[in-house]
Amino acid sequence: MSNPARRAGELRKQIDRANHAYYIADDPEISDAEYDRLFRELQAIEAEHPELALFDSPTRRLGAEPATSLVKHTHRRPMLSLANAFGEEELTAWEERNARLNEDVRKGGYTTEIKIDGAAVSLTYEEGRLTVGATRGNGTVGEAITTNLQTVSDIPLVLRGAKFPALMEIRGEVYLPYKNFEKLNQERIAAGDPPLANPRNAAAGGLRQLDSADVRKRRLRMFAFQAEVIEGKLPFATQHEMLSHLEAWGFQIEPHHEVHADLAAVQKRMPHYEELLEKLPFQADGVVVKVNRRDLQEDLGVVGGREPRWAVARKFAPEVGVTRLLEININVGRTGALNPWAVLEPVELGGVTVSSATLHNGDLIAQKDIRIGDWVEVVRAGEVIPQVIGPLPAKRTGSERVFAMPEKCPACGTPAERPDDEVMTYCPNAACPGRIFEGIVHFASRDAMDIRGLGPERVRQLLDAGLIGDVSDLYHLTVDQLVKLDRFAEQSAEQLVQAIAASKAKPLSSLVFAIGIRHVGKNVAVLLARRFGTMDALESASEEEITEVPGVGPTIAQAVASFFHTLSNDRLIERLTNARLTMSEPRAIQGDGPLAGKSYVLTGILPTLSRAEAGALIEGAGGRVTGSVSKKTDAVVAGEEAGSKLEKAQALGVEVIDEAELLRRVRRQE
Ligand code: IVH
Repeated sequence: MSNPARRAGELRKQIDRANHAYYIADDPEISDAEYDRLFRELQAIEAEHPELALFDSPTRRLGAEPATSLVKHTHRRPMLSLANAFGEEELTAWEERNARLNEDVRKGGYTTEIKIDGAAVSLTYEEGRLTVGATRGNGTVGEAITTNLQTVSDIPLVLRGAKFPALMEIRGEVYLPYKNFEKLNQERIAAGDPPLANPRNAAAGGLRQLDSADVRKRRLRMFAFQAEVIEGKLPFATQHEMLSHLEAWGFQIEPHHEVHADLAAVQKRMPHYEELLEKLPFQADGVVVKVNRRDLQEDLGVVGGREPRWAVARKFAPEVGVTRLLEININVGRTGALNPWAVLEPVELGGVTVSSATLHNGDLIAQKDIRIGDWVEVVRAGEVIPQVIGPLPAKRTGSERVFAMPEKCPACGTPAERPDDEVMTYCPNAACPGRIFEGIVHFASRDAMDIRGLGPERVRQLLDAGLIGDVSDLYHLTVDQLVKLDRFAEQSAEQLVQAIAASKAKPLSSLVFAIGIRHVGKNVAVLLARRFGTMDALESASEEEITEVPGVGPTIAQAVASFFHTLSNDRLIERLTNARLTMSEPRAIQGDGPLAGKSYVLTGILPTLSRAEAGALIEGAGGRVTGSVSKKTDAVVAGEEAGSKLEKAQALGVEVIDEAELLRRVRRQE
């Protein structure tokens, strides 16, 4: 190769083109292997000739080595949220309030922009280079996710043109187009992972992954909508010009923005937007109306440091429909919860035909007096499952029937149980066929026994073929049996048998979570396994002994004890023991464990753990939890809205970690 500079230039062009085809056009032009080859060649040239490793080289988009935790980042300007305006009147009231502060807003004009429903991010550009990318966090402090954001192809690493302020924070929304979301979920299901609930969660969760290579695979996108200048001046005077500049600098701008002379014109466009929102290729949850003139924006300012007066989110009420409730059926969940749901006469709701809706639980049905045969109002908001709001009693004919929760499980006939203080009714039989499907899917899921390749479709197939009746049968499956089924080749059959065998090595905590004891999530499972050490000890523990485990309350203790008092569950454990699954866990001994001798402080609201659970995990791993931060503190675990303890930790230079990192530390095998 004669000229490395020229070759590097060629490679960059080819890779950029391939990226565009893969991410944006969603129509890959070259194979993954070919892409990797080009990529490695470019990396090699850049390694040998560092002067050719340009800041905006696509090699920078690969991200970095997996991080062990996310680091806090303080925004130079707060990331604000928006007030809502439902309907025309509320939007008018918004202008009225502003006009009382500055009459000029009535004539200054407005922009309308799509409100993208994704994850808010802030990108710091210094002299036109992306230096930090961060999540919103609590608006003041977020988490630095720079390498993750570098994998988002819509984000320029270096700004185009020259006219940009020396230091600014670009605000935008990272989102996942519906198409990419569906693809991602198909891939997850095929790999035996649970599907993600909606594109917003997929985007937000994607951004917080520790391995940026995983982020790249999600094919996240970003629209920019705001520039906050820290040093220098913005070369424009209106919101509309800001959008044009963002575009000129290399950002993607949501194309449906408009400028309007006054609020009357904005109001007139709302029916158009309401229709448009349903048709966009990504999740959107309203229209942001903004005062166009930036001098007026500044004059109006911010309410309570949180919401700008100059912008408001115009929301549209969720779609409500009226239809007949034909029947109430019961679906048996994996923990045995009997979930009532409504069979509806099909009705159009926001472009979707709805023929079923959740009814939550028997108490709610009674409270709302929903009867079989009633005309009911049904609502569908965004991604959530349609819900029955309530009946229209005026339409009753007298032939409606009052519903009562069944006394026996509809799938297996076992008497249903309703624990004190709970609204749900349960089937207590772990061998109940209704629970089995959901239970096996859960058993195989990533956080449980992590059996790759055993997703819902495969589970259904194995059940239908009569090859399995419960989770213990998985361990007796053979390649010969599997290859006789549809969609199983020799290789996939072998892989599945191997994956099942490999799961036998999972520790007791995974198994305790996997067998689906009511109220026992993965964190509680770790607490129980560490405390009791073996399945035998846990099985024979009394309710009182279980309640003594820090972080485990009476509801959980009751559920655990009653699980093991059920004969069919005992038999299941016996079969799993005979299949030689791991039935023990390294026990937590005070002064031993991955956090032995360490002192931790908890502050703020953690995403999944309660204070008590986090404390119990730390203690279970041999550590100590103290109430205040000092130089002797080993680490502060900070969540949302962390206050003075976080500040003190930063002042003393004490390490600050998040929940994910804590979980990693306590789970580290001794
Ligand atoms: S402007 C200073 N414009 O909505 C005003 N926000 O509920 C702040 N969002 O945190 C935001 N699309 O992440 C603005 N076109 C848009 C938006 C938008 C989505 C998000 C943004 C903000 C949240 C507020």
